[in-house]
Amino acid sequence: MGKRIVSAAVSAVMACCAAVISPVFGQSATAGLKDVYANHFRLGSILNGSTVNSAAMKQVVLKEFNSITPENELKPDQTIVQSGSTNDNVKVQLGNGAKAILKFCEDNNIPVRGHTLVWHSQTPGWFFRENFSANGAVVTPAVMDKRMESYIKNMFALITSSYPKLKLYAYDVVNEAASESGGPRTAGTDAGGGQSMWVQVYKDNSFIEKAFTYARKYAPATTKLFYNDYNEYIQAKRDYIANSIVKPLKQKGLIDGMGMQSHLDVRTGSDPYPSAALYGQAVTIYKNLGVEIHVTELDATVNDGNESYFPAQATYYKNIMNEILSKGGDAVKAVVVWGIQDDQSWRKARKPLLFNASGQKKAAYNELVKLIPESNWGDGNNPGGGSPTPIAASVKSPARITPLVTVRDRTVNILSTADAKVSIKLADMRGKTVATFNTHGGDKLSLQKLPAGAYMIDAKRTQDGYRMTSSVILR
Ligand code: G3I
Repeated sequence: MGKRIVSAAVSAVMACCAAVISPVFGQSATAGLKDVYANHFRLGSILNGSTVNSAAMKQVVLKEFNSITPENELKPDQTIVQSGSTNDNVKVQLGNGAKAILKFCEDNNIPVRGHTLVWHSQTPGWFFRENFSANGAVVTPAVMDKRMESYIKNMFALITSSYPKLKLYAYDVVNEAASESGGPRTAGTDAGGGQSMWVQVYKDNSFIEKAFTYARKYAPATTKLFYNDYNEYIQAKRDYIANSIVKPLKQKGLIDGMGMQSHLDVRTGSDPYPSAALYGQAVTIYKNLGVEIHVTELDATVNDGNESYFPAQATYYKNIMNEILSKGGDAVKAVVVWGIQDDQSWRKARKPLLFNASGQKKAAYNELVKLIPESNWGDGNNPGGGSPTPIAASVKSPARITPLVTVRDRTVNILSTADAKVSIKLADMRGKTVATFNTHGGDKLSLQKLPAGAYMIDAKRTQDGYRMTSSVILR
């Protein structure tokens, strides 16, 4: 079939603008971190109930990341419903923030890390007490077993039934159950002080294996199950996690991966903690257990939020990423940064992230890009890149597909085979659709009538559902 020029029927009346080349997809000007690291692992971030309502943040996510973790929205204090819960049927809910995040990820094929089911923190005290009452006596382990099983079962059922197309590719089943000295947390009600009601009920960490047993039973087969913790590089804690938590679970086939939270500190740059070497030792130890590794909550603070330490922060991010790449190798499947912009971080005063409060890329971002030679960059667009059930598996052409479309000189080039039907949608930065096309491989679409500006282009091939989205700037 010969190439055709299709003139775009655009939904609004617009002045013609001078045609200026605007390359997209896989080219350095517009590649995101997910593309830079596509041949290594997923590069993710978080959304919360606020950032998910920001068009600007959503655009950053679409461009940069191919994994999203809801920051707080799937935690027990937001999902367990007190009223009507029984030992055998714990009521669960998704709040507006969770719904918005999961819908955005489902609509855009962005794989999600669930966070988290069993945690001493952000879990209501009444969940551990008779009649789900704040004044009730602490329940027995047998009762807590039932509640935990029901909670885990109902959470997976709620998410999968509400978002059937969502790629829930990983879940933090148990979070932060190890003490710094290596062992269970102290029993007690003071979660803020580090005490655990799980240990209060069970007297030890035996609830961990139960949690993973239930998660294995009820999680989708494609959802990888993780133990997740911080200070995971401190020797006593690291070795306890490795030898007494992850290793036995792995031997029983109950766990798939270790989540290294990685809340790090550059400090002034001369004495970052942990050192990259210490961090690398932890990566090696977890890798040797034969489990996957996800870096789940990466951030690295500078003292006093002093921007003169940003070059040191950039070097530290580079050094840490080097350890992840070199020591982790194929075991590392995802690296998730705990926030997008500094001002959104839980540690915002010490500016730990890759974008500043104005949304500009920091030196740390640029160092992470420079670390991977451009010849090694790939297509990290969602879906694809190592998810347990990549949609790409159903694609007839090679999974790491060449771009479905490119945009040049205000012309969209459809790159698929000539008999492929491709639907294309262009939206402005507020998400309003400005043009739609049903077209074929080999076609060209002229975008002369659209005003200059930034747009999102969403291209989908009908035969297999392969889809890619990217930003495009028309000049
Ligand atoms: O939602 C309430 C809001 O109604 C209230 O007005 C406001 C007043 O302070 O608080 C809001 O809740 C806050 C919540 O984040 C949502 O913004 C809590 O105070 C605040 O403590 C909570 O912080 C979260 C923290 O977990 C709680 O432990 C952070 O956002 C979140 O980034 C952080 O994430 C954890 C990971 O889950 C596990 N690893 C450590 C990491 C950092 O603590």
